[in-house]
Amino acid sequence: MRCSDGWGGVSYAPCPPEEFCGRREEREHLGALLSRAGGQAVMISGPPGIGKSSLLNWLAYEVQERPGGLQSPVLRGEVFDLPGMIFSVFRDLLKDLRRHAATARFGGDLGLESMREAIRYAGDVLEKYVAPVEPVGLLAKTGEEIIGVFAESPEVGYDRVREAFLELLQELGRVMSVTGRVAAVLLDDVHLASSLDRRLLLDIMHDLPPGIFLAFTCRAEDGTCPGYPTMQEEIRNLGFSTIRLSEMRVSEIQELAQRRFNLTINEAAAGLLEESAGNPFGLMACFNTLNYRGLDPTLEKIADLLTGSRDPADLAYSGLPESWKDWARELSVLNPPFPVPVVACMLGLEGSSLADRLREIGIFRRLPGGEYAFAHPLLQEHCRRELPDDAKSALNARAADCFERSMHRLSGRLHALLSLACHFFHAQEYEKAADLNLELGLRFYHREDYDTALVLTERAITAAGYLGDDALLAAAEQQRDLIRQKIASPVRAVP
Ligand SMILES: Nc1ncnc2c1ncn2[C@@H]1O[C@H](COP(=O)(O)OP(=O)(O)OP(=O)(O)O)[C@@H](O)[C@H]1O
Ligand SMILES: [Mg+2]
Repeated sequence: MRCSDGWGGVSYAPCPPEEFCGRREEREHLGALLSRAGGQAVMISGPPGIGKSSLLNWLAYEVQERPGGLQSPVLRGEVFDLPGMIFSVFRDLLKDLRRHAATARFGGDLGLESMREAIRYAGDVLEKYVAPVEPVGLLAKTGEEIIGVFAESPEVGYDRVREAFLELLQELGRVMSVTGRVAAVLLDDVHLASSLDRRLLLDIMHDLPPGIFLAFTCRAEDGTCPGYPTMQEEIRNLGFSTIRLSEMRVSEIQELAQRRFNLTINEAAAGLLEESAGNPFGLMACFNTLNYRGLDPTLEKIADLLTGSRDPADLAYSGLPESWKDWARELSVLNPPFPVPVVACMLGLEGSSLADRLREIGIFRRLPGGEYAFAHPLLQEHCRRELPDDAKSALNARAADCFERSMHRLSGRLHALLSLACHFFHAQEYEKAADLNLELGLRFYHREDYDTALVLTERAITAAGYLGDDALLAAAEQQRDLIRQKIASPVRAVP
């Protein structure tokens, strides 16, 4: 996956399966699990950039595409860093199922009426839980348009969601078992999932039917995965496996350099990399920079590169063309997935030429739904960290404006509202931020997503404080106390 624009580098996106290197033990482990009878689940964990999403890509290929492989359907979903996108990853799985059901390849099994009915029912229930009702008019202050948002209380409870999803998986598993196959459900970045999504995932694991193989990735580092220890314990209690990825070894480093960058690295240089940058993202940054600067991959040059950079994301970023850096900085305030009209508005470009430009640029990737994200989250995190405060608030103001202008063209209304709530707040537009965050916070409270409710309500408290609006502040604090009570409640069965 080579990129143009004179950069000639290799994209920082998760590795395509045909370029995947090393990880032999882990691949064998996954292969053995796939051939086992009964529902199987596995958690793939490890620090940022270690190769979790790449391994998931390889697994997807192995299950669905490899000639002579399982030739079984894969359902995939990715969780993004925007608290409150409840069940969005499960809705993506349903989209994949619907797509498969309409193909000649899998339609014979997945297009059966019983299967279609289960998909329809699960889809309806998920929609009802997060369904928008329009117009409600309560967000009039956020723009010209009256913005719809889901009802204060959901029409169905969580139990119906769980039941519908489990029934769907049972039907899917039954259809698969009849033909001696397995359907793989792959979820990336579960550490970003809201507490409700994690709860559904755990419930699914508890009742995983035969014919279903569930694999999910979870970043494991301090503070980034609130549910990680619980998830790890649960998965062990249920007798499922965990795969913890560690840094690459000398032979894997040499393979990666050769296969993806056409670089031959000697043992001494690979040994240094193993010690100091054996994380694949760090290796990618190092090899891309060597190539970009036209340096030989010698021990001395590699040692210089490593000592001259603060961290792998810094090295990756510093080796990018200047025009890309501007785009990266400007888009870093957005919450993925980035809708095309918003990206076009942020960059002041037309939508049609934009798609071509973004495709060429190795620091972004196109998502299955047509939106965009940074090729790797570490690049976005780096750009955000480096933004000075005034640039951060100006870019957030621009992002809020772009969302308001594009609202009528965006299909993901929940994403748009949560993004707006975030951008108004970071743009210090406190009047709009207070109203929107408080209202959304209440709705998440009624959906039992207390973590998101708390984030939103705390923003409303801060905003009300800046505005000096005592009535609003009191209302927001009261809402926060209610949420805290729920979080502290011992019956809360969420990791
Ligand atoms: N086995 C591999 N072979 C070749 N390239 C790899 C391999 N593993 C990872 N990479 C490359 O390393 C980088 C980081 O990998 P990846 O995105 O899979 O990490 P991750 O663990 O999912 O990171 P994060 O926790 O931030 O999501 C990517 O650019 C990817 O292409
Ligand atoms: Mg990843």
